[in-house]
Amino acid sequence: MEEYKIKRIEEGLTKIEFPEFEKVSSEAPVFYNPHMELNRDLSILAIQVFQKEQDREINICDLFGGSGIRGVRYKNEIDGVGEVSINDISETANHYERHNIELNDLKDVHVHQHDASMFLRMKRGEFDVIDIDPFGTPSPFLDSASYCSRRNSLLCVTATDTSALCGTYQEPCIRKYNSKPYKSEYCHENGIRILAGFVALTLSKYAKYIEVKMSHSTEHYMRMYLEVKKGSKRTDESLKNMGYISHCRNCLHRQTSNGLASPIDEVCPVCGEKLVHAGPLWLGSIQDGDFIQKMIDETENKKINTEKDALKLLNKCLVEADAPATFYDVHSICKSLKLSAPKFDLILDEIRNEGFEAVKTHYNPIGIKSDAGIENIKRIIVKLNENMKQ
Ligand SMILES: C[S@@+](CC[C@H](N)C(=O)[O-])C[C@H]1O[C@@H](n2cnc3c(N)ncnc32)[C@H](O)[C@@H]1O
Repeated sequence: MEEYKIKRIEEGLTKIEFPEFEKVSSEAPVFYNPHMELNRDLSILAIQVFQKEQDREINICDLFGGSGIRGVRYKNEIDGVGEVSINDISETANHYERHNIELNDLKDVHVHQHDASMFLRMKRGEFDVIDIDPFGTPSPFLDSASYCSRRNSLLCVTATDTSALCGTYQEPCIRKYNSKPYKSEYCHENGIRILAGFVALTLSKYAKYIEVKMSHSTEHYMRMYLEVKKGSKRTDESLKNMGYISHCRNCLHRQTSNGLASPIDEVCPVCGEKLVHAGPLWLGSIQDGDFIQKMIDETENKKINTEKDALKLLNKCLVEADAPATFYDVHSICKSLKLSAPKFDLILDEIRNEGFEAVKTHYNPIGIKSDAGIENIKRIIVKLNENMKQ
């Protein structure tokens, strides 16, 4: 093994060492990204909540170990964890994974060197939690994860190819997720829905379906926690959550259509312009309020360095749990109306005063999830703008 200068970091209750590198990149001898600490801290909370709900010992697979930080932290910081399997195709990563297991004095954590899909197939049905945290897209590994995941298990999925999922370029999204995206103010939410939809369709081949427990889009990545359920009838029922979101670039109206092969409106019912479509994607729930509340409560029992940011994010996700799909970006609407923006909270209050739902969203600090529809929201913004002048 090559000699490297070693760096030590601490996350949660865990010490991790790895070769020092200049820049976070897949070229580093062993990958460690400090910007993913929030992602890892949220994983600790989500897996702990899942373990408590199962009320038994759980076995975890950290499929793309890198330094081993996830697997090592999961064993060290989550109660009720039995065996942890850390896998990575890289021998150097394996070396540091073993080193970090020892550094934290852990038992029942095993290191494996296999291609991720091969490893899952070798261990089919053995894991209660499979954590998929690859470079870029998780897409190539989701078939093995779907085939090998057991009933009532938890899939934790990271995607860092946000430009594909958000539709900066359409072809990579169609290629990797078999879904057409479009660029919009709410393209990060569409990206989450495209990823969830792709997992749901992949699982459905094996008569399995998803319940989305929590999902978020943060900085350069998307992450979701999905409970895998089994049964052909329920899978058929669950697939009714698949469909399309259509958007009018002229007036900013948007609408959803459930069904994979149902007819979709081609023309905007508000202004008559042509609609653009994203999908197939997941139109079902992408936040589970009860699960998220338990994650919030769990912060009391855990030592996580990102507690403030984690709580801020979780509380935003909690608020949007039952809200409609997509959100309205106040600046985009004001720009289309050629008006300056009224105070954000005034808009929220006024939409609610008129009897509609209006909540903030974690995707965008000036985003509003609402059932009011674009015409009502524009009318309210115009009215508030006139009041501002008086
Ligand atoms: C993004 S890093 C993992 C980061 C780690 N989970 C963390 O939280 O720091 C991806 C890892 O996957 C490994 N890898 C790449 N292709 C793989 C494959 N086909 N099977 C298994 N491991 C793979 C790389 O060696 C790298 O260590």
